[in-house]
Amino acid sequence: MFPIRRNRRLRTNEAIRSLVRETYISPNDFLVPLFVVEGSGIKEEIDSMPNYYRYSLDLLKDEIKLLWSLGLKSVLLFVKVPDTLKDNKGTEALNPDGLMQRAIKTVKSVCPDMLVMTDVALDPFSSYGHDGIIENGKIINDTTVEVLAEMSISHAEAGANFVAPSDMMDGRILGIREALDQSNFLDVGIMSYSAKYASAFYGPFRDALDSAPVDVQDVPKDKKTYQMDFANREEAIRETEMDINEGADIVMVKPGLSYLDIVRDIRNSFDVPIAVYQVSGEYAMLKAAAEKGWLDHDAVMLEQITSIKRAGADIIASYFAKDVVKLMS
Ligand code: PBG
Repeated sequence: MFPIRRNRRLRTNEAIRSLVRETYISPNDFLVPLFVVEGSGIKEEIDSMPNYYRYSLDLLKDEIKLLWSLGLKSVLLFVKVPDTLKDNKGTEALNPDGLMQRAIKTVKSVCPDMLVMTDVALDPFSSYGHDGIIENGKIINDTTVEVLAEMSISHAEAGANFVAPSDMMDGRILGIREALDQSNFLDVGIMSYSAKYASAFYGPFRDALDSAPVDVQDVPKDKKTYQMDFANREEAIRETEMDINEGADIVMVKPGLSYLDIVRDIRNSFDVPIAVYQVSGEYAMLKAAAEKGWLDHDAVMLEQITSIKRAGADIIASYFAKDVVKLMS
């Protein structure tokens, strides 16, 4: 006998489909990554990220106002540091008048209510392109954590609302939380890149910031001794649980699309907000396929963003944020 239940009834037309739709996207879902450079009048397109730009501080102001007018209320700041200011210890990261510190103040000056999150890791400041300090060919964990904690205080002093450690050192969430609390930054939050995988999808980002590990002797060629092995799933739960116990307010899975099983595992295991970072390589893939006319850009973009939210993300860091919001309005 034919089944009594016909699932297609709920797909008959857009009205019924929208009535039973489970996942909706809104501007509230997004965190907008922004790349900042020294200079003035600069808005330069990143080669491997079509239609995505690095901004000097003066033009960053216009971009911030535009994002706010579109309903995008949170940004994640990254800085491109001149080679002359890079060293092994990332000293420039602690400069109270450094580019990051000035970028935070610039955003707050034009839009005080914009939520400012900052990247905390040494790679943009490291002469070796690593997220931590190198000694004898190894990334030194605990000394790096001390610098990351100081860096976090420096960002908080400049006005950051959240720091976002993306380095994957052990114990850095506790180190940062204690440092912030001791400096009385009780309201400054931590968004931890808890399950960050050693991924080949970060290539275009490293172009954007010129932050790839350098190819010299005694410097590790990749980040596999600190970022996670992409074959692992249980480990993501352990990492996330530790970060929550150390005081992370928001946890993150990165990259996005290839890791949605991890997002769902974490959603099912913990009740803290989850962010997903749809990374530069994911952006670049769709832009390239669309340029060739092989994929419908907007349709695939919405499908991907919806999949990330459906998997369990509360927050989506995405280079498509502006495109999605414009498309929806
Ligand atoms: C570095 C950092 C990376 C990204 C964010 N922070 C790259 C890396 O770990 O090498 C990647 C973001 C992207 O690809 O969009 N701490």
